[in-house]
Amino acid sequence: MPSSVRFLTVRMFPLLLLLFIHLRACHSSPSIHPLCHDEESHALLKLKQSLVIDESASSDPSAYPKVASWKVDGESRDCCSWDGVECDRDSGHVIGLDLSSSCLYGSIDSNSTLFHLVHLRRLNLADNDFNNSEIPSEIRNLSRLFDLDLSLSAFSGQIPAEILELSKLVSLDLGVNSLKLQKPGLQHLVEALTNLEVLHLSGVDISAKVPQIMANLSSLSSLFLRDCGLQGEFPMGIFQLPNLRFLSIRFNPYLMGYLPEFHRGSHLELLLLAGTSFSGQLPESIGNLKSLKEFDAKKCYFSGVIPSSLGNLTKLNYLDLSYNSFSGKIPSTFVNLLQLTYLSLSSNNFSSGTLHWLCNLTNLNTIGLNLTNSYGEIPSCLGNLTQLAVLKLDQNKLAGQIPSWIGNHTLFILLTLGSNRLHGPIPESIFRLPNLETLDLQENLFRGTVNVGLLRSRSLASFQLNGNNLSVIGNSNDSIALPKFQILGLGGCNLSGEFPSFLHGQNHLEFVELGGNKIEGHIPKWFMNLSTETLWHLDLFGNFLTGFEQSVDILPWNNLRYLRLSGNKLEGALPIPPRSTIIYIVSDNRLTGEIPPAICNLTSLVILQLSNNNLNSKLPQCLRNISNSASVLDLRNNSFSGDIPDAFSSDCTLRAIDFSQNQFEGKIPRSLANCTKLEILNIGKNKINDVFPSWLGIFPKLRVLILRSNRLHGVIGKPRANFDFKRLQIVDLSGNYFRGKLPLEYFRNWTAMKTIYKERPLYMQVVSSFHLTGYGMGYHFDYSMTMTNKGLCGKPLSRNCGNDEDSLPAAKRDEGSTAYPLEFGWKVVVIGYASGLVIGVILGCVMDTRKYEWLVKNYFARWQR
Ligand SMILES: *[C@@H]1O[C@H](CO)[C@@H](O)[C@H](O)[C@H]1NC(C)=O
Ligand SMILES: *[C@@H]1O[C@H](CO)[C@@H](O)[C@H](O)[C@H]1NC(C)=O
Ligand SMILES: *[C@@H]1O[C@H](CO)[C@@H](O)[C@H](O)[C@H]1NC(C)=O
Ligand SMILES: *[C@@H]1O[C@H](CO)[C@@H](O)[C@H](O)[C@H]1NC(C)=O
Ligand SMILES: *[C@@H]1O[C@H](CO)[C@@H](O)[C@H](O)[C@H]1NC(C)=O
Ligand SMILES: *[C@@H]1O[C@H](CO)[C@@H](O)[C@H](O)[C@H]1NC(C)=O
Ligand SMILES: *[C@@H]1O[C@H](CO)[C@@H](O)[C@H](O)[C@H]1NC(C)=O
Ligand SMILES: *[C@@H]1O[C@H](CO)[C@@H](O)[C@H](O)[C@H]1NC(C)=O
Ligand SMILES: *[C@@H]1O[C@H](CO)[C@@H](O)[C@H](O)[C@H]1NC(C)=O
Ligand SMILES: *[C@@H]1O[C@H](CO)[C@@H](O)[C@H](O)[C@H]1NC(C)=O
Ligand SMILES: *[C@@H]1O[C@H](CO)[C@@H](O)[C@H](O)[C@H]1NC(C)=O
Repeated sequence: MPSSVRFLTVRMFPLLLLLFIHLRACHSSPSIHPLCHDEESHALLKLKQSLVIDESASSDPSAYPKVASWKVDGESRDCCSWDGVECDRDSGHVIGLDLSSSCLYGSIDSNSTLFHLVHLRRLNLADNDFNNSEIPSEIRNLSRLFDLDLSLSAFSGQIPAEILELSKLVSLDLGVNSLKLQKPGLQHLVEALTNLEVLHLSGVDISAKVPQIMANLSSLSSLFLRDCGLQGEFPMGIFQLPNLRFLSIRFNPYLMGYLPEFHRGSHLELLLLAGTSFSGQLPESIGNLKSLKEFDAKKCYFSGVIPSSLGNLTKLNYLDLSYNSFSGKIPSTFVNLLQLTYLSLSSNNFSSGTLHWLCNLTNLNTIGLNLTNSYGEIPSCLGNLTQLAVLKLDQNKLAGQIPSWIGNHTLFILLTLGSNRLHGPIPESIFRLPNLETLDLQENLFRGTVNVGLLRSRSLASFQLNGNNLSVIGNSNDSIALPKFQILGLGGCNLSGEFPSFLHGQNHLEFVELGGNKIEGHIPKWFMNLSTETLWHLDLFGNFLTGFEQSVDILPWNNLRYLRLSGNKLEGALPIPPRSTIIYIVSDNRLTGEIPPAICNLTSLVILQLSNNNLNSKLPQCLRNISNSASVLDLRNNSFSGDIPDAFSSDCTLRAIDFSQNQFEGKIPRSLANCTKLEILNIGKNKINDVFPSWLGIFPKLRVLILRSNRLHGVIGKPRANFDFKRLQIVDLSGNYFRGKLPLEYFRNWTAMKTIYKERPLYMQVVSSFHLTGYGMGYHFDYSMTMTNKGLCGKPLSRNCGNDEDSLPAAKRDEGSTAYPLEFGWKVVVIGYASGLVIGVILGCVMDTRKYEWLVKNYFARWQR
């Protein structure tokens, strides 16, 4: 928008000049307009000399070096005739200089002759590269300026206070530079420059509130404050400024605000609020913004029903309300928005509805309706939308088949239909769409065979078929004609036999899912040499892979962040991924040997899961490095032995530790007390020889503590303090050598424990979730046990079958479930019921089988550019 305005004015100057000269020639005796002044001509030439021409300095495709025509000899020696120079017709002074998009590169410093041009009223240097120059304070010399445009020209640093002296400014554009406006700040600027009609500061680091007095700039017609670090509450009065036409305050995440009641007669054409903390409802009076053409409220916090009056805004061509919390129905009045070319309502809480209303909107080229509770079939009338290039319908409840017209729509660039209930075969015509870049059909009910050899979409970079009933086939002959994938999702696609050879030559891969197939044998050498710089996500879980064909110290994908190899038949030593790795899951394989110390170099690791292998020997001391970054360390069910290293430092970040089912001996390392973020600790089924670790009670977040089947002994003393074990939900102390009684105080205060007593497997679940860049990770710790009635006393509450005292006998070591001497005090259970909670637990007497498992769920924030 600003650039088109800019170029319009540029082209108009010469026209007006010509017209003017022509008129003078007709109406007066032959007189020559004044030649430009020598000192100004000189200053311009000096300016030209101080800069170099570099085509890459301008981004506009129509850019050219205007100064190339500036010469002092021949006919063109009058600087008023130079390209981009405008002179006053009477005085001959240079009053306008437009060097926008002129491929200029170099610094503008305080002695630049630019500041000799003191008669300038218009200065436009936009879209050049001034090499991170600061705006010199000598800008104050240009005190006659009305228009100043330095946008997109690589200026940096603080905007000088001298700019406030340019009190005639009507239009100021400093956007898209690395500038700061802090001392002076936005408030000072607005106080000084009261004539502003245009204020464009997008990308300038303001990091302050929007001053209330901005609502006094009654002439303001265009305000761009995109991505300025604005904070606080946006003054509502600004929306009501009588001349305001363009307003962008996008991408200021800490800027709060509400929309006001809008009056009739508003001239607002552009209202861009995306990525702010605006909240509340859209007012019904938004229907008064009759001139509105673009409305972008993506990723704000709006809620409530979208007012049907929005359908009155028949000039709208761009509407984005995605990623808010709008509820109710999508207004039926939207069928009136016939000018719409871009529509996105993705990810809101709409009540369910069909898609038929879209069919009237024949100018649409983009539809974003993913996660909008849409159901029914994809209507065939959508085939009438001949401009459609982007159709996002993923994560809905759409049923039926893919309509055949889709394959005829050659404009399609992006088509996402994933996570619906679509069925039937995938029409092959889709694979011939010539411009298709993204095709997401994952998580549906599609059947049939997909032959990758039939893929003809040369630009297809993201191709996802995960989680259907499809069989994907293809061979190395197909590899030559295949597009270069970046995102490839072929999980659960019945790939079988050796590693899919059609992947030969795929050297742009970034995100690859091949899990849940029947791929056998080695991960071949040729695949290990592919995409070594680009691949960051590789998921091969649940195949029949035995190892890597080429043995290497470190796996070759240098920027790998996610690697899942679990549930294969990997043998031999533990493969070590590169340093960049943050998630490494290789559980349920047949790995043997020790943990190589090289693993301690993985200082970015957040999740390390090695469970259910045959890894052995001692843990390396350097595991401390990992405990300073990792959240999850799962070594369950291997053959590790020796002491658990006493190496948890004060920076410990661990939230879950599972060392169970190994041969660890010695004491529970006291340095574990440094891991104050710990939520889950399982060291069951080892040979730990220690007393009850009452010191673990200080962990404020500990929810699962499993110490069963060790050599723990001694008396469990009374809790030390009120806060001991406050958050515990699951405790298992059974199968140890504790003596004495278990103090009831623990039970009383373990109120967080919640389980349900039933004579069937009992599942207790602890969910912990956290977010990593690009991933949402949810962790479920599932602990299940079967309680059996031991002749044990009947149903709870029916009979008092234990002692009634205030303490419970602690469990003795029990490996066989039958020989259980102790009884459970029903009183405790009664306490639980009475307080609205049901206490299940611990002593081991009632539990026959136990099984616990980790369910690692990754909710991949689906990758967007
Ligand atoms: C650009 O800036 C750098 C760093 O200040 C300087 O070394 C270089 O000479 C400048 N280039 C031009 C053409 O001014
Ligand atoms: C501007 O001043 C600097 C030193 O401050 C000098 O190096 C440079 O040559 C001067 N430029 C011009 C155009 O006079
Ligand atoms: C500012 O303008 C005056 C003339 O008004 C001129 O003498 C002076 O050199 C200019 N300053 C700069 C830095 O160009
Ligand atoms: C605007 O929309 C509302 C609700 O849809 C309607 O009642 C009203 O008549 C419309 N106003 C105009 C001027 O079209
Ligand atoms: C939508 O299109 C249908 C069929 O083309 C037409 O009958 C109907 O009047 C249109 N609705 C609106 C509101 O334009
Ligand atoms: C598609 O458009 C044609 C006219 O171009 C119209 O006759 C037909 O009804 C439309 N189809 C649907 C399903 O709306
Ligand atoms: C697709 O295009 C072909 C050839 O132009 C045509 O025969 C067919 O009817 C079209 N299919 C649909 C569903 O529009
Ligand atoms: C860890 O990385 C460093 C630097 O790359 C390397 O020198 C060192 O040998 C690595 N340590 C191990 C145990 O592999
Ligand atoms: C916690 O870490 C520090 C520094 O690494 C260590 O000296 C201390 O012993 C640890 N704390 C405990 C309780 O072990
Ligand atoms: C248990 O909690 C209650 C209230 O939270 C507190 O008064 C009591 O002292 C606690 N008892 C123990 C043994 O921690
Ligand atoms: C659709 O919305 C979901 C939920 O916000 C998001 O994860 C997904 O990336 C979106 N899909 C597309 C294609 O934008």
